[in-house]
Amino acid sequence: MNKKIKLQLGTVQETLLLPLIARVKETEFKHPILNDTKSVELYKQLEVNEKKLLRNMTEIGIYGLCYRAYKMDETIRAFLVKNPNGKILDIGSGLDTTYYRCDNGKALWYDLDMPDSMALRKQLLPPPNNRVTYIAKSMFDYSWIDDIGDISNGLLITIPGVLPYFKEADVQAFFTTIAPKLKGAEIMFDVISQMGIFFVDARIKAAGMKNAHLKWGILDPKTISSWSKHIELIRAIKFFDDKQKLKIRFTTRAALRINKLFDMSQLFHFRFK
Ligand SMILES: C[S@@+](CC[C@H](N)C(=O)[O-])C[C@H]1O[C@@H](n2cnc3c(N)ncnc32)[C@H](O)[C@@H]1O
Repeated sequence: MNKKIKLQLGTVQETLLLPLIARVKETEFKHPILNDTKSVELYKQLEVNEKKLLRNMTEIGIYGLCYRAYKMDETIRAFLVKNPNGKILDIGSGLDTTYYRCDNGKALWYDLDMPDSMALRKQLLPPPNNRVTYIAKSMFDYSWIDDIGDISNGLLITIPGVLPYFKEADVQAFFTTIAPKLKGAEIMFDVISQMGIFFVDARIKAAGMKNAHLKWGILDPKTISSWSKHIELIRAIKFFDDKQKLKIRFTTRAALRINKLFDMSQLFHFRFK
């Protein structure tokens, strides 16, 4: 058997393991909302302390991370029906496997992440064809806009599990910089409320990532549209709105209700105009 790969990543970068292990565990469940064999294949190649990673990762933690991917997949598929030759940019892609679940055979895919995370991605998950481009840059290095190029066939940007790690001023600067430059593009990302930060931060710390702090909490999407006349809300999706018949524990079901009651996690979908 090949030697497993030991990770050497920056503080926020190593958090890429959390959504990965969640997709792996969800896939192993009897009734998964996400069936992600590519993540299982990737995960097997890594040397990780699984016990530590799963410490405090309750069923709701796994479900929450997979619900995010499930709703993003749904949005990407709908976008590609309308814009079959469009572009999808995944910011903070980590070891995300969306391409393998949603590709339509025509779209152009871009994954952007910090150089160390991108080096790992290149090693484990090299671009499968010339429709997939990797960009090793910070999202705050706006030269990525030139790397994406023409967006007349449509651009959907996804940012799963990234923005809450930054201060609100940084997130605001990001949006007000890119919105006027990418008119017509759509953008989707997950957010956490201040109350949600308390629970999710505890889970991240329990997984051993003591220096990765969540900083930005938000409840109302109108805060973001108020930052710029170029930002228009399409929809806010509350976790967990879908009435899927989940085979989950009673305690998880109760936790899902509380999460929804206080809007602890949501997905926001905006358009730039
Ligand atoms: C929690 S992980 C999410 C990974 C992936 N989106 C997923 O859902 O599987 C956070 C990701 O954000 C990336 N990241 C951190 N700072 C970044 C920055 N300034 N620009 C782009 N990506 C960044 C990390 O490298 C990491 O891959």
